Amino acid sequence: MKRRQLIKGIIATGALSMLNKTEAMNLLDSEDFWDEIRHSFPESSEYINLLNTGGGAVPKATLKLISEFQKIAAAGGEYKTPELYSLKESGSSKLLREMMANSFGCSTDEIALTRNAMEGLGTGLLGMDLNKKDEIITTNADYDSCIRIIQQREKRDNIRLKLIDIPMFANHDDEVVTAFENACTSRTKAILMCHMFNKNGQILPIRKISEMARKKGIKTIVDGAQSIGQIDFKISELGCDIFAASLHKWFWAPRGTGILYVRKEMIEQLWSIWASWSGKPANSIEKFEEFGTVSKAVSASLPSVFQFNNKIGAKKKETRLRYLRDLWLNQILKSDRVQLLTNPKKSCAITAFKIDGVNPDKFVKELSEKHKILIGSIHLHDKPNFTGNYLAADLTNSEKQIYRFIEAFETYIKHN
Ligand SMILES: Cc1ncc(COP(=O)(O)O)c(C=O)c1O
Repeated sequence: MKRRQLIKGIIATGALSMLNKTEAMNLLDSEDFWDEIRHSFPESSEYINLLNTGGGAVPKATLKLISEFQKIAAAGGEYKTPELYSLKESGSSKLLREMMANSFGCSTDEIALTRNAMEGLGTGLLGMDLNKKDEIITTNADYDSCIRIIQQREKRDNIRLKLIDIPMFANHDDEVVTAFENACTSRTKAILMCHMFNKNGQILPIRKISEMARKKGIKTIVDGAQSIGQIDFKISELGCDIFAASLHKWFWAPRGTGILYVRKEMIEQLWSIWASWSGKPANSIEKFEEFGTVSKAVSASLPSVFQFNNKIGAKKKETRLRYLRDLWLNQILKSDRVQLLTNPKKSCAITAFKIDGVNPDKFVKELSEKHKILIGSIHLHDKPNFTGNYLAADLTNSEKQIYRFIEAFETYIKHN
């Protein structure tokens, strides 16, 4: 099939059908443009990585900067290098907070630079004052480390974790909002939820859940580890109280970078994990940035990452990710053995499926060992029947690599 026809097919059927044809064509751009973007990253290993949920690639220009800054710092030259000496010992600066606020849609005094998503989520979960028997609600598809933090608070502070089951394939937002609302009691003090689940990619209706929760006086903590850099949104539009994410996944920043957003009115009530050594006031977002010395080379390279993302733009990035997803998804859905585990209209790059009669772990193993293709399998807390596979292709993946997956999939189901 000619590429143009294929693109038209994808625009007509998949999640891109939500855009008008001209808008979708413009956002998809030419393959030359995407080749240039792909070549801005280091050559990938011998494996085709279609599992980009753990950590993203980093542009070559950023890697070069880090290495240069590291050499300067190691030789004691930080004081004469403005990019380094303008940073606090924990790596942040007003300029970086401004860049984060502009890119992620909130005000500069509500966003802090952290080292990963868990640091921000841990601050949200441990920094809230809770009384005995107060409840935190989260889902059985949320991130293990977050669930463990709440379980530790159960032991330490005698609070309660309420792990709920929500529809993993939702057609309407209300199904998800109702599942959360039904779980709330007078004891519920906070809801922790993924913006986008890492296992099946479902995007939750955060704004609607937050509105429901706020009416009941319940705080909302959002895990945005997978949504930042993957989909186009503004944190302020989500209406949540706390939002934390890593920048080293879909935003292509170096490992060891993340953000913590705290709604202005909430900052004073939320304890920082480390007390501010410099005496920042309780209502200052900067109190969350004082965790000791980090490699300033990493955060000094961040402006180059913002520049690189801006060159593409969030909307265009999201559209291309959906295009790559639809490229493989439309093909495998031609088999009547494949069942979707995610509603593609409520997901982006990460999407899950189940192949009838196939053990998901064996499929992952065979793809890795025989075809050198990396994909994921799903196992959720308390939900043994919800198993399958998922892919998460990034813009570092080419169409050719996606075709390699489709061929491997077709070979596998022919023999299994
Ligand atoms: C949904 C989700 N939350 C949190 C995290 C933790 O991110 P980090 O390792 O940056 O702290 C991950 C990592 O994969 C994730 O997928």
